[in-house]
Amino acid sequence: MGRVAVASAPAKAILFGEHFVVYGKPAIAMALNRRVRATSTINDRGEVRVRSSLGSSTIPLESIDDTQLYEHDPHRHIVFAVANVMRLLNRYAGVDILLESDFPYGMGLGASAATSTATIASIASIFGAEMSKDEVFRLSVEAERLVHKNPSGIDSAVCTYGGLLLFKDGMIERLDRKGYSPLDQCQGQGQGLQFVVVSSGMVKDTGSMVMKVKSRGESNREEFASLAEMSEAITVQALYAIRCNDLARIGELLTLNHGLLKRLGVSNDTLDAIVYEALRNGAYGAKLTGAGGGGCIISLVDGSRGKVLLNALSRYEAFISGIEDDGVIIEG
Ligand code: PMV
Repeated sequence: MGRVAVASAPAKAILFGEHFVVYGKPAIAMALNRRVRATSTINDRGEVRVRSSLGSSTIPLESIDDTQLYEHDPHRHIVFAVANVMRLLNRYAGVDILLESDFPYGMGLGASAATSTATIASIASIFGAEMSKDEVFRLSVEAERLVHKNPSGIDSAVCTYGGLLLFKDGMIERLDRKGYSPLDQCQGQGQGLQFVVVSSGMVKDTGSMVMKVKSRGESNREEFASLAEMSEAITVQALYAIRCNDLARIGELLTLNHGLLKRLGVSNDTLDAIVYEALRNGAYGAKLTGAGGGGCIISLVDGSRGKVLLNALSRYEAFISGIEDDGVIIEG
């Protein structure tokens, strides 16, 4: 067997500001305690082979720069990321990549960005190269662009750096890490936050939801601008609430944000019903997370409520998560 390198990256949830983050408004997102693992092995077949629960893809090494050849492949962003890492390092080899995830794909938990960041780190590692997180982030956003055309970069940021992040126009501030900013009196924000993540079981398509929002914005600019202002105001207030660890206020703002996304047209009856059920069972607040149209909802809970909520929503796939500290890591 050839050389092997393993890297992993966390799932993510957007707490505040999705969609409007694409238009330069601020958003807050966190890494979750679920991960995807990329195991890369050098092969002598001169091909890039990617395997995941989505199937298996094989691209000859000499064709990995020809994105048109694999534009409909479910692993196209992975092959594209591999091509970019090899070009950057000027090292080329056939490689088998196995992607194993303990969270579902297509559910708004950042599987696309997590698989690309883990793959980028594992390919760099297999060539013995040290790649900075900033470089992994940049390459992951490029891979996302192949899939979503105009990604804000927030998914790649969380999957790369981990933690609780404020994201605006490519500017990233980690909120939860103590000592992050010497000027900030309230470091280590949000560390005790706990969420129940509930999957609607409906696969969503980020690209088409982003396009839907775009055409809605073009057809009613005034309404869109005022929704964007509201999203920004909610996110800014959430920053203060997180700083004060005011769970009731954070919850209220989450539910308000869901209402805004509903108004934007990206929720649906199933997501609304799960949000309502979470609230009825004692969550501080709940909202859809990510692009909408399916995927997951998140609900803020405290210690004992998490299990109550899991029971009440047992017909859905769900799990409890705090903020995951680690972003992308080399595991071996
Ligand atoms: O892929 P999802 O469902 O996590 O959504 C991405 C978040 C959006 O704001 C809708 C798009 C973006 O690029 O930020």
